[in-house]
Amino acid sequence: MPHSILFVCLGNICRSPMAEGAMRWVSEQRGTDIIADSAGTGSWHVGDPPDRRAQAAALANGVDISGQQARQISVRDFDRFDQIVAMDRSVLRDIDALRPEMASGALSLFLDHVAGREGQDVADPYYGEEDGFALAWADVMAGAEALLDRLERR
Ligand code: 4NP
Repeated sequence: MPHSILFVCLGNICRSPMAEGAMRWVSEQRGTDIIADSAGTGSWHVGDPPDRRAQAAALANGVDISGQQARQISVRDFDRFDQIVAMDRSVLRDIDALRPEMASGALSLFLDHVAGREGQDVADPYYGEEDGFALAWADVMAGAEALLDRLERR
């Protein structure tokens, strides 16, 4: 069975869609079969495509995320995915509170997988300038590479 990974942020229009796109790209480059998806804790943007600035940052690096559609996390996701990865610490707290006690999926903070970045957030670029999206892209690529390294070692 391929690993299945769900990336989670607040709106599911900036960071987690970028993480999903980065993870698909990295796994494709490596020839590793995985299932990647993303969701938000909030419902404001359900059905929306990724923020145009997130799309542009991904596309500048050769990754097209325009086909994604925002959705809200549901309790069933905790059994559907073997890895549930929060983009920041407040999202991690929120999804930990939603997580059913018997859920099988492992919950983690995205940058905990990156040596030297433990405990850090992927900064929310939504209310900031364009360069926040380039920074977020660099973070999600580093996280995707490191997470896949970890999963492949198992
Ligand atoms: P994301 O960014 O969590 O990385 O998708 C945000 C997008 C929208 C909102 C907050 C964060 N919002 O409040 O609408």
